Amino acid sequence: MAKNKILVTAALPYANGPIHLGHLAGAYLPADIYVRYQRLRGTDIIFICGSDEHGVPITITADNEKVSPEVIIDRYHAINKQSFEKFGMSFDIYSRTSHPIHHKTAAEFFLDYYNSGLLVEKKSLQFYDTSRQMFLPDRYVEGTCPRCGNENARSDECENCGALYDPSELIDPVSKISGQRPELKETSHWFFPFGKFQERLESYIAEMDEKYGWKDNVLQYCKGWFSAGLQDRAITRDLDWGVKVPIPGFENKVLYVWFEAVLGYISATKELFKQRGEEETWRDYWQDPETKYVAFIGKDNIVFHALIFPAMLMAWNDLHSDDENFVLPQNIPANEFLNFEGKKFSKSRKWGIDVIDFLSHFKADSLRYTLTMNLPEYRDTDFSWKDFQAKHNNELADILGNFVNRTFTFIHKNFEGKVPALYTLSTRDEELLNQLEGYPQKIADLFEEYRFKDATLEIMNLARAGNKYFNDSEPWKTLKNDREKCSTTLHLCLQTIYTLGLLFMPVLPKSSEKILKMLGKRSVEWLHAGKLNLVEGESLGQPEILFRKIEDETIEEMKRKTAPEAEEEADFEKIDPISIDQFFETDLRVAQIVEAERVKKSEKLIKVQVSFGKERRQVIAGLGKAYEPEELIGKKVIVVANLKPAKLMGLESHGMMLAVDTPDGGLKVVEIDQSVNNGTKVR
Ligand code: MF3
Ligand code: ZN
Repeated sequence: MAKNKILVTAALPYANGPIHLGHLAGAYLPADIYVRYQRLRGTDIIFICGSDEHGVPITITADNEKVSPEVIIDRYHAINKQSFEKFGMSFDIYSRTSHPIHHKTAAEFFLDYYNSGLLVEKKSLQFYDTSRQMFLPDRYVEGTCPRCGNENARSDECENCGALYDPSELIDPVSKISGQRPELKETSHWFFPFGKFQERLESYIAEMDEKYGWKDNVLQYCKGWFSAGLQDRAITRDLDWGVKVPIPGFENKVLYVWFEAVLGYISATKELFKQRGEEETWRDYWQDPETKYVAFIGKDNIVFHALIFPAMLMAWNDLHSDDENFVLPQNIPANEFLNFEGKKFSKSRKWGIDVIDFLSHFKADSLRYTLTMNLPEYRDTDFSWKDFQAKHNNELADILGNFVNRTFTFIHKNFEGKVPALYTLSTRDEELLNQLEGYPQKIADLFEEYRFKDATLEIMNLARAGNKYFNDSEPWKTLKNDREKCSTTLHLCLQTIYTLGLLFMPVLPKSSEKILKMLGKRSVEWLHAGKLNLVEGESLGQPEILFRKIEDETIEEMKRKTAPEAEEEADFEKIDPISIDQFFETDLRVAQIVEAERVKKSEKLIKVQVSFGKERRQVIAGLGKAYEPEELIGKKVIVVANLKPAKLMGLESHGMMLAVDTPDGGLKVVEIDQSVNNGTKVR
């Protein structure tokens, strides 16, 4: 039986600057997790990416530095390629759109459309910068809006009043490149009639959504475009950097960067198989109707991947026989944006950090884990140094690392570094085994649904369960009075670690590799997960510390370097002072969240059960926008314990949790170290 093939592409980043953490979280990390997961399953999959090396911004950077565009793209292609490698991206190829194969492919598409009469030529007046001898793209002309007087209007539209006008109407135009007044000059361009494809695009998207469940953000965007109506779009530009327009009389023009960049996925696949000496094999992925094509992108790329690229492929397919028809994306799991310390990444404000810089200080897996747990899958999210430190220290080191380390250390000390034997199972052992068995399917389902954050949270919960099992089984006691029981405990801990190593492989490839090596070089296949693979008496490798704690000082320093604005100072003067007795009237207690679920029909409220040690209570907390209920479980928090009970949406609330506002408008519960006992009074 022929196996299903999967083609995965990740947006081609512009070779006009170094990529940052926001790019990784938007498209690349989810794509890599997905691909690594599929490879573990033995799926026939290829993973395509590369640099997008054309477009106006690159020529402007080059002008500013007084170098040629090649210097810029060579520099950033190399930097970004290296960033991706260090981060552990497992592309099959990282190509570039300056490659001759790409120029040829893009020209072929254009010519096909052109020769078939699909394209429409239109003449228009456009601003021309005489001092730089170039036509100015819309965003490089500024002037006063002829309707409302806004002085920062663009050449043909005003963002202030929404007016669209002819460039000749713009008052006092200025070239943003030279600062001079540009002239209007006639120019001619080729337009692709996207409007003609609207109906087919609408049914394509409806069908894909129905079969495969597209994300809401993607559907909403498309809806917006559809209701505005798709328009003809110019696919040529007056520029000398790019893919030349392959028809006589247009030698001074290039293809519009977006038109050719999306075709870069195809060119890169051709290049990949050319390198492998199988020049025609690219067709098995792009031109086999059985291939599943998934395009990973950030939200700013949705229109190009969900509408423009599919329309281009439809147009090609209309002109060619069935066996040369391209597959359209089956899904486009676009992410929202990741902010940095509450604000947008910004190179000019020195706000944020490049990938290479980050990875010269910390391990890729630490970053992969933190980003996965903060993926902007449904809404914009935030990267903060404190959270990075907390996720690394409290989860990677204290949960996963600790479980692996204590198990191996114990076995090396007491079982001669060999897999201990399995004897009679207790109820607790059976519970762990049941949990273990159910895991691979649960995680696979989440990965298949592109829910990488939930999957990772669940896998970490297995490590949590492993630690709890270790604690509850007390092998340090049974070692003395019931060696068989002790052996069984450690045996099952090891089996759990094997499964953890496999399940974490897509997210934490380096650490998983280490885990499998410690287990004595194990086969790396998804089908082994959840099963008992280790046999009594097999030798184990040497234990290795997986994650070392990150110190406060390190984090403070990184924060100073990358988020340099002064911390907001609290406005203490405005608060009326109270006496210490008044303060002590508030009974603040440490409590642990033991259960949490959403209150039905409320997006804000979460019903939480907190434990004070002896006593348990229900608290209705307004944390629903900031947390998923599962994220709250296990946290130690501070509760106002002597608050009068209140009713919220019909539910009793006995207390209130302390929380703080975050700079991005979110909310965080105040957390307390796990070493503090439940019920402890805060003073
Ligand atoms: N260069 C674009 C960006 O960084 C993405 C291009 S994706 C492609 O936003 F498919 F068009 F190449
Ligand atoms: Zn206006």
